[in-house]
Amino acid sequence: MKFFVDTADVAAIAELNALGMVDGVTTNPSLILKSGRDILEVTKEICGIVSGPVSAEVVSLKADEMIAEGLKLAKIAPNITVKVPLTWDGLKACKVLSDAGHMVNVTLCFSVNQALLAAKAGATFISPFVGRLDDINLDGLELIADIRTIYDNYDFKTQILAASIRTVNHVAECARIGADVMTAPPEVIRKLASHPLTDAGLAQFMKDWEKTGQKIL
Ligand code: E4P
Repeated sequence: MKFFVDTADVAAIAELNALGMVDGVTTNPSLILKSGRDILEVTKEICGIVSGPVSAEVVSLKADEMIAEGLKLAKIAPNITVKVPLTWDGLKACKVLSDAGHMVNVTLCFSVNQALLAAKAGATFISPFVGRLDDINLDGLELIADIRTIYDNYDFKTQILAASIRTVNHVAECARIGADVMTAPPEVIRKLASHPLTDAGLAQFMKDWEKTGQKIL
């Protein structure tokens, strides 16, 4: 499973990228707001750090305007993925942009039928939002599993990009189900390294090592 980092925080992206943890990046208007940066500038800086797909989201609601925005965003760097919402107009924009050879990430997916439409419109990635379904007491991971089954039934090439990932359990389950990609905030990716038994074991080793009175360096 590929790891995308869900942020426009350049320092966090650079740190994770240096560890080999970043196969791509996803941003959205809320993350751009959080960064306090200009979308074109910050996206260009991210594309200078990460060679994998970097999603930049359009903000118009009409297909022709989404296409114009997408073409402008795509000019930032060859690894830009144009992110469009899963609306009828978004699907139209997806078809035009993907036919023109651009990577497209169709976002805000909450049902298998929406995922089917995105695949038929030529999406490179479909982004089902796991955490936001969990927020309203629905099962976000079940949606990932159902899309996996349906895409495999018909050999759709659209990659399942599990989004709105909030917990380490989401990450493990997405990998088990067979999501192609997951995108998570930097803090969730860092938490993947944590285990209480690792902490307890290390504390014991440190205690015993001190008693030996030895040094390695
Ligand atoms: C990804 O593309 C989305 O922008 C993101 O994962 C949404 O996550 P949230 O529901 O935690 O805001």
